[in-house]
Order: sequence, then C-alpha cells, then structure tokens
Amino acid sequence: MLTIWQATPKDLPTLLYLAQETFREKWIPIDGKELVEAYIQQNMQISHFQNALLNPDISFWIAFWEEKPCGYLKIIRNAIPDKYIHLGKNFLQIEKLYLFAFAHRLKIGSELMKIALQVAQNENFDVLWLGVWSKNEQAIRFYEKFGFQKIGDWIFIMGDKICEDEWIMAKVLPRLQ
Ligand SMILES: CC(C)(COP(=O)(O)OP(=O)(O)OC[C@H]1O[C@@H](n2cnc3c(N)ncnc32)[C@H](O)[C@@H]1OP(=O)(O)O)[C@@H](O)C(=O)NCCC(=O)NCCS
Repeated sequence: MLTIWQATPKDLPTLLYLAQETFREKWIPIDGKELVEAYIQQNMQISHFQNALLNPDISFWIAFWEEKPCGYLKIIRNAIPDKYIHLGKNFLQIEKLYLFAFAHRLKIGSELMKIALQVAQNENFDVLWLGVWSKNEQAIRFYEKFGFQKIGDWIFIMGDKICEDEWIMAKVLPRLQ
C-alpha cells in the first residue's frame, strides 16, 4: 500500500535518509562515490533540510510503500533558469523526484508528479520544469509520459564536476481562468 504526505519538520530524519540514500543508490554507480559524497556534503546535510522545511517556497512530499520510506518529491516555487527570466512567467521547479529502485514502476513517481501538477494548478504557475541528465532514459520517458519536453540545456554541479550533458524539460500549464 502506498502512503504519501507532505513533510513537516518532524519528518526531518526520514527526509534526510531518503534524499541521501536515493541519491547514493542512483549516482554512485554512474559518477562514483567521491563526487556523490561531495555533492551530499555540500547540498544534503541536516541544516539544508531544516532550512528548506521552513522556507515557504519549498515543499517536500515523502512516500512510503508497505510502510517503508521509498521516495520523495521536492518542489521550489518561483525558481527560474536564468535564461528564461525574460519570459516573465511563473515557474515551478521539480528540484528532486527520487525513488529507491525497489519502488520503481509501481506508479509512485506518477502519484508524486500528480502532486506537483496539482500545486502548479492551485497556485497558478505557468510552467513546471526540471533538470535531468540527458542519458537518464527512465526519467526522460517518465517525464515525456506527463507531457514534458526538452526546452534547453542545463548544467548540474556534482562535487567539483560540471555536468553539461543535462537538459531542461518543461511543461506549460493551462490556466484555469
Ligand atoms: C523516474 C522515476 C521517478 C519514475 O517513477 P516510477 O514510479 O518508477 O514511474 P511510474 O511507475 O509512475 O511510471 C509511469 C510511466 O513512466 C514511464 N516510465 C517509468 N519508468 C520507466 C522506465 N524505466 N523505462 C521506460 N519508461 C518508464 C512509463 O511510461 C510508465 O508507465 P507504464 O509503467 O504504464 O509503462 C523513478 O524511476 C526514479 O525515481 N528513478 C531514479 C531517480 C531518478 O532518476 N529521478 C529523476 C532525476 S531527474
């Protein structure tokens, strides 16, 4: 059974565990331990999540499969890639959407994506976007299924490595009114 709720400060240990361990599971086989641990050291310490949980522009949802923590979603409101600022649109970023491998293909990612889409609709954002490694085919297929398209290139910094083979994918949202 799947359970999802929006994280609050009392969920900090679970969130920290999910963020660090899903990131290690996904990227150590590809980028190696050194770069991944440097990224975690720089971006995924307890203080980062304490601050983020108090930031009204940031929200997290955590997912449990059979009561086991299995993944999470992090969104950031009004985060716009520099080159799109001139568009004057309201952008909502999916900054992280990560599940452990044991929980893939169970539609849990789809449920988390639906939450992001619902927030975008409720809060009148024009564009939902994310950065993705251009060779992360499972994720790209998943985003395409939800109507995201590549709109440009992106740079991701992993430790001291500048990863340039990254895409920005986006979905323009219909306005209700
Ligand atoms: C990307 C991710 C969130 C998808 O979540 P998921 O719960 O496994 O995906 P779902 O079960 O909701 O799949 C929905 C649809 O997406 C597509 N899809 C998902 N995974 C896929 C894969 N491995 N290969 C091809 N298509 C895939 C399919 O169309 C699927 O529908 P179907 O199962 O009916 O064919 C998940 O694979 C994940 O966390 N991966 C590791 C972390 C990661 O790379 N995150 C993204 C960083 S940008």
